Amino acid sequence: MKALILVGGFGTRLRPLTLSAPKPLVEFANKPMILHQIEALKAIGVTEVVLAINYQPELMLNFLKEFEKKLEIKITCSQETEPLGTAGPLALARDKLIDGSGKPFFVLNSDVISEYPLKEMIEFHKSHGGEASIMVTKVHEPSKYGVVVTEETTGKVEKFVEKPKIFVGNKINAGIYLLNPSVLDRIELRPTSIEKEVFPKIAAEKKLYAMLLPGFWMDIGQPKDYITGLRLYLDSLRKKSSPKLAKGSHILGNVLIDETAVIGDGCLIGPDVAIGPGCVIEPGVRLSCCTLMRGVRIKKHACISSSIIGWHSTVGRWARVENMTILGEDVHVGDEIYSNGGVVLPHKEIKSSILKPEIVM
Ligand code: GDD
Ligand code: MG
Repeated sequence: MKALILVGGFGTRLRPLTLSAPKPLVEFANKPMILHQIEALKAIGVTEVVLAINYQPELMLNFLKEFEKKLEIKITCSQETEPLGTAGPLALARDKLIDGSGKPFFVLNSDVISEYPLKEMIEFHKSHGGEASIMVTKVHEPSKYGVVVTEETTGKVEKFVEKPKIFVGNKINAGIYLLNPSVLDRIELRPTSIEKEVFPKIAAEKKLYAMLLPGFWMDIGQPKDYITGLRLYLDSLRKKSSPKLAKGSHILGNVLIDETAVIGDGCLIGPDVAIGPGCVIEPGVRLSCCTLMRGVRIKKHACISSSIIGWHSTVGRWARVENMTILGEDVHVGDEIYSNGGVVLPHKEIKSSILKPEIVM
C-alpha cells in the first residue's frame, strides 16, 4: 500500500520555528511531526510514502534517509515547481501512487496529530464500497476547517463545505483520506483544492464516506494549537499507560523528558511538558505547558509556561517566559527578563523585557 503526505506550504503560522526547519521536521513531543505519521503508516503495512513538497526537498530527504533504513519504508519526493494546492500534488504524483493493483492509497495533511486508526479506516473503506473515505472529528470552532455533513447511520457524506462562514455542522475533515485510484481521474494537473473542487463532487455522486475518528485530534500548524495538541497527545499516552511518561516527585501530570536531558535539583516540571535531547534544566526551574527543543538550557529559578523554546536557546536565571512566547533557534533571554507572548526570531539576544505579545525581529 502507498501513501502521500501533503507537505507543501511554508509553515508561516508556525514561525519563527519554521525559519529553521520545514514544518514537518519541527519536533512535536520530541519527534519530528512527519515521523508520527510515517510510523503510523508503516505500522499498518504501507511500503512507500510520497512526500508532496514545494519547499526545501533536499533538507527533508536527507533528514528522512536515516528513517527510511530504520523503518524499512521507501520515502520519495514529488516536487512541485509551483504550489499545486491540496489536490494538484496528487495529479503530479499519479505515476507513483498507481501500482496496477487497484488498491486505495492514503493521503495525509502533514500538520495534524491524532491516534491514526488507519487499520479501522481500511475496514471502513471496504465496508461501504464508495470511492473515497475521509476521517472526521468534532470541534468547537468548525469555521476554521472543512465541515462534513453526513448521513448519521452510514457515514455517507451529504455535503462538504470548506471553511464555511455560516454554521453547517461541527464535524470536520481531519485531513486523513483513503482514496481509490479512480479519484486521480478527477484531478487535473494545476493548482487545485481537494476540499473545494474534488470532495464536493464525489459527495454529490454519493461516493464519499466519513468515519468518525476515535480519540484526540489537533491541527498543530499554529503555536496555540501546537501547545493544546501536546496536552492531548500526552493525555493519550497516559490513557495507554505509556512508559515514556516521566515519573518522580518533581513531575506534575504528563511530562516527556528525553533520556539525554539533565534536570537539576528542586525543579517542578509539568503538566504537559516535552523536554528534548541534550536540554539542561538548572536547579529550581518551574516548567508547565511548554516544549523545549533539542539543546535548550534553562538557568536557575527560571519559570516557563505556555511557550515553545527553540533549538539551542537559553533562558536566564529568574527569567519568566509565558503566554505563547515562541523563541526561535539560538535565542538568548537574559537573567530576570520577563516575556509575555514574545515571538522572537532566531539568533537574537533579549536584554529587556517583552511586556505584551509582539514579534521581536
Ligand atoms: N504539496 C503541497 N502543495 N502541499 C500543500 C499545498 C501545496 O500547494 N498547500 C497546502 N499543502 C499542505 C499543507 O502543508 C498541509 O499539510 C495540508 O496541505 C493542508 O493545508 P493547510 O494549509 O494546513 O490547510 P488548513 O489547515 O487550512 O485546512 C486543511 O486541514 C484541515 C484540518 O487540519 C483542510 O484539509 C480542511 O478541510 C481540514 O479540516
Ligand atoms: Mg493545517
